[in-house]
Amino acid sequence: MFYEPAARDRALLPHDPFKAIVAPRPIGWISTLDAAGTPNLAPYSFFNAVADSPPIVMFSSAGMKDSASHALGRGEFVWNLATWDLREAMNQSSAVLARGQSEFAFAGLQSAPSRIVAPPRVAATPVAFECVVTQTIELTDAASRPIDRHLVLGQVVGVHLDERFILDDGRVDTAAMRPIARSGYLDEYSVVDEVFHMARPPRPEGPRAS
Ligand SMILES: Cc1cc2nc3c(=O)[nH]c(=O)nc-3n(C[C@H](O)[C@H](O)[C@H](O)COP(=O)(O)O)c2cc1C
Repeated sequence: MFYEPAARDRALLPHDPFKAIVAPRPIGWISTLDAAGTPNLAPYSFFNAVADSPPIVMFSSAGMKDSASHALGRGEFVWNLATWDLREAMNQSSAVLARGQSEFAFAGLQSAPSRIVAPPRVAATPVAFECVVTQTIELTDAASRPIDRHLVLGQVVGVHLDERFILDDGRVDTAAMRPIARSGYLDEYSVVDEVFHMARPPRPEGPRAS
């Protein structure tokens, strides 16, 4: 079949399959601090790494939600790895709470201080990235109309890594951390507990980009 997103056959596809197709998506579990110093934590599945040198991650906010607003306000955020063990807490942290109430407490999570940026991190996660905002992009549609989606990009300036997940050969054991990812629709997730290896094709001699 072929369809244009705004005109899909709603009898055949009553639920937009977009997020079930672009799946799994890593979860940006973002901690920030509001102006009064209250920690905020929320998951964003429109999240990814977009550069590695320097490392840059981004998340996209549908409307100017607290995480984006706080990240812009202070110029800082922390990305926390959402894992199988932390799945319920990650989900709880998406709750809308009264101003001044922290999702850390609501989700039963301890926070731990960051080293370089002010927002705290999730103490129980095996990895957290301290990030400094580098850019924000107000997304538009193809006709250049604003769509109220706010992309926040941040350079990773500090990495907290639980050394239990470093293998003897110095590689990080991704599968052992059991990262969870967002799949389709309202309640589907994936867990990475297995990886496979595949060699890249031989490259011609000369400089390489990545
Ligand atoms: C797994 C998961 C992924 C989510 N991804 C996004 C997202 O990419 N963009 C977004 O705007 N909201 C997303 N949400 C909803 C936000 O987490 C939710 O609106 C939250 O209350 C925002 O909190 P904040 O205002 O403190 O930032 C997601 C929720 C869940 C559970």
